[in-house]
Amino acid sequence: MAQFAIRLGAQMPDFPCKTTKGDFSFHEFLGKDEPWTIMFSHPKDFTPVCTTELGACDGLVGEFKKMGVKLIGVSCDPVESHKDWEKDILHREKRPDQAGLGFPIIADEKRDIVTMLGMLDPLEKDNEGVPLPARALIVIGSNKEVKLSILYPATTGRNFDEVLRIVRSLKLTADMKLATPVNWKEGDRCIVAPICTTDEAKEKYKNFQIEELPSGKPYLRSVDCPTPA
Ligand code: BEZ
Repeated sequence: MAQFAIRLGAQMPDFPCKTTKGDFSFHEFLGKDEPWTIMFSHPKDFTPVCTTELGACDGLVGEFKKMGVKLIGVSCDPVESHKDWEKDILHREKRPDQAGLGFPIIADEKRDIVTMLGMLDPLEKDNEGVPLPARALIVIGSNKEVKLSILYPATTGRNFDEVLRIVRSLKLTADMKLATPVNWKEGDRCIVAPICTTDEAKEKYKNFQIEELPSGKPYLRSVDCPTPA
């Protein structure tokens, strides 16, 4: 598979996926159920940080679903190993009777997918000296386009509450000419994007304000956070 550069706006390529929830093509998965997808890689099954991350993700499946987002993981162990490991994860999450995690995990045994997507961490190797996948995460929009990508090393677990916050911001701003400021959280005031005229902002959004600055330039405009659709 040819190398794919994960760039904002790039169309995700298609590839075959062997997963804990059956086999399908990646594009087939993107087109199913919730319109947006979060794809995330993790270094290895039966490793401690990954175990905590996947448990947290499983607990957030419902929150992501409410925002129209589904999840899919990928690592380089076989499907059977993923399935055995899921039992440990669900035991820790105190949901031992749940039939598997609430999202598929791709078994990329030949590392074709993680190599193509540039998700390997050259600094983190398995016992045979082979590089492991890093903690990459891509938010993919309904047109298969990359909305956001983050890349953490194997030793730093991601903050999935932050991923939820990011998705709330992306969703809020996808169809509106709004942006979210530093440390924004749901309900906080939003920034009016430069592309939006003041007249349009006043008409569309509530409680429009312009912050006065020494430059006198009226660029820091904000409105109440609209209720997500
Ligand atoms: C972990 O998930 O705990 C982990 C995996 C690879 C390297 C370091 C930590």
